[in-house]
Amino acid sequence: MSDFNQEVDMSEMFKVPEQLRAKAHVKSMEEYRAMYKASIEDPETFWGDMAREFHWETPFTKVGPTFNFDRAKGPVHMSWFDGGKTNLAYNCLDRNIEKGLGDRMAIHYECNDMDDQHASFTYTQVLELVCKFANALKAEGVTKGDRVSIYLPMTVELPAAMLACARIGAVHSVVFGGFSADALAGRIVDAQSKVVITADGVMRATKPVQLKSITDKACELAELQGFKVERVVCVGRLKGTPYADQVKHDWVEGRDVWCNDFIGSQPATCGVEWVASEDPLFMLYTSGSTGRPKGVLHTTAGYMLGTFATMKYVFDYQMEDTFFCTADCGWITGHSYITYGPMLNGATQVLFEGVPTHPEVDRFWKICAKYKVTTFYTAPTAIRALMKSGEEPVTRNDLSSLRLLGSVGEPINPEAWKWYHRVVGGGRCAIADTYWQTETGSHLLAPLVGAVDCKPGSACFPFFGVEVAILDDKGVELEGECSGSLVLRRPPPSMMRSLYGDHQRFEEAYFSQFNGYYFTGDGCKRDKDGYYWLTGRMDDVINVSGHRIGTAEVESALVAFPNVAEAAVVGFPHDIKGEGIYCYVTLNEGEEYDDALKPKLKQQVREMIGAFATPDEIHWAPGLPKTRSGKIMRRVLRKIALPDYLTQDLGDTSTLADPSVVDVLKANHPRAA
Ligand code: WT7
Repeated sequence: MSDFNQEVDMSEMFKVPEQLRAKAHVKSMEEYRAMYKASIEDPETFWGDMAREFHWETPFTKVGPTFNFDRAKGPVHMSWFDGGKTNLAYNCLDRNIEKGLGDRMAIHYECNDMDDQHASFTYTQVLELVCKFANALKAEGVTKGDRVSIYLPMTVELPAAMLACARIGAVHSVVFGGFSADALAGRIVDAQSKVVITADGVMRATKPVQLKSITDKACELAELQGFKVERVVCVGRLKGTPYADQVKHDWVEGRDVWCNDFIGSQPATCGVEWVASEDPLFMLYTSGSTGRPKGVLHTTAGYMLGTFATMKYVFDYQMEDTFFCTADCGWITGHSYITYGPMLNGATQVLFEGVPTHPEVDRFWKICAKYKVTTFYTAPTAIRALMKSGEEPVTRNDLSSLRLLGSVGEPINPEAWKWYHRVVGGGRCAIADTYWQTETGSHLLAPLVGAVDCKPGSACFPFFGVEVAILDDKGVELEGECSGSLVLRRPPPSMMRSLYGDHQRFEEAYFSQFNGYYFTGDGCKRDKDGYYWLTGRMDDVINVSGHRIGTAEVESALVAFPNVAEAAVVGFPHDIKGEGIYCYVTLNEGEEYDDALKPKLKQQVREMIGAFATPDEIHWAPGLPKTRSGKIMRRVLRKIALPDYLTQDLGDTSTLADPSVVDVLKANHPRAA
């Protein structure tokens, strides 16, 4: 858990920009409060009316939420829009086209290289691609409820493949292209996906990412675990380009097919599989406090409403907007604010394949200028990294089209908030810090930018339908100004419904801490004005550049290395990444603590999880601080990981089985050199 910076000024306030308020969907605090109240007290009308903007093949009979969060009263469950049948792909595409938006630009695809063949797709063109994909999947035998794993770069095929699954009622499981073969294999096996959609590779700045060869390896690993992938669809992203020879991969006859051949001869229209409101739409793996990633399961109608409504109100979406979310579709942000939220609103958006620093550190701003982006959504880690390059790379681009800047992934420090506001936003844009999770599907806390004056570093107030509470250690709800555990009293529409194939783990992971509440895992303060301030994770999850990493996952990767006996991983404050990964490693009896091993251990973690989980620091620990019952005292390890570890008060260490291990850790500190 990262420590909340005590120096934050919780009274500093930035007023709503008046030109934004003038045409915003919600223009005042009073209006926000009234709508919020209606969303909680009369969800039937509030969400029911909003839902009727969509196409329902069979109308719902009840809005909801129908739910039980109290395990003492039976299994945890929740549902919205019972009795209804609809389809996400239909509502994202066909419905907009019927409204006359067929020729409207849906996606501007911006490639890694500035001079590559960028392309733009209208809603009609996206629908055609989705239908071809959907028909091909059907021809492959994929039917409603089947899982399809997607391991693609940020090309238009990625959202198209997701929407194709949605169209035929298949459940997509997107795996971020930065995950390793091991991680991909685990996710394929857990989901039992017979079809995997990937690409030959992609250039990330100047380096190739070997997506197909990693997929080949993952399929082999899956087979060793007793699961056979029957079809690998390969998008020829680099095929026929000057980079073609940078990727090397096998070709398994009978299993592998080029995407062009797979979809090429399929018709560009495809019927819709109408699915029930609570039929699964997708699963997405995320990290928790135990080693195994959790397959977060989202269903159809509630997710549709949650992503639609937050896109419309938090980003104050207007027809003339151009939206640019820099996330990858491999994470929930890309699911909700690239594939679904914007398309449900008929928005025009930018899909960016590359990285912020290629070819130069102003790539984001070049893209904003090129497409006249109005609404830009990124992570604090990116802002902090770009701050390092100074203001000129920003100001040399014309950013006058911007009106709203969003932030997501971790608490945004006030310094970054203010730089974002002043330098990127030219002092005239609103900033929406959005707090939410893979599990919640859409924003929980965020300012409505036309109504709410913002405090830098605060995610402000709950979105419609989100009923939060802050609890003390005993599970008692705190009132007014307070600090404690952030929980939900009821499910907002887009809430996860279960963990794939493991409802019991779902209940234990989220509903066992406080009876009757969903526990977010986050600590939170409420100030005297009612603003919410996230203070970091309260469990063994660390947030590295907005990516959630379970310390237990890194530990199991480390102990899989032959010489390693034990490992304990904690987070530490990192200038750019927010948190860095700090590993204490104990080698087997008799092994020599040789620093030449450190890069190998780092490599081990990259291979088992992915490059984004590479440890920042390895600290040799001949002994770990453990209580007599054998529990590792992480509190102590977190303090020793700090740069000023020598002056840290380690607190009570009298219950340690062997207090001298602490001195040894201080003596061979990697930061001491
Ligand atoms: C965790 C969820 C939500 C999409 C990206 C991450 C942290 C996320 C904020 C924010 C403070 C934040 C929380 C949360 N987090 N956004 N605006 N302010 N903390 O999704 O991987 O599911 O991670 O990220 O700790 O629980 P995720």
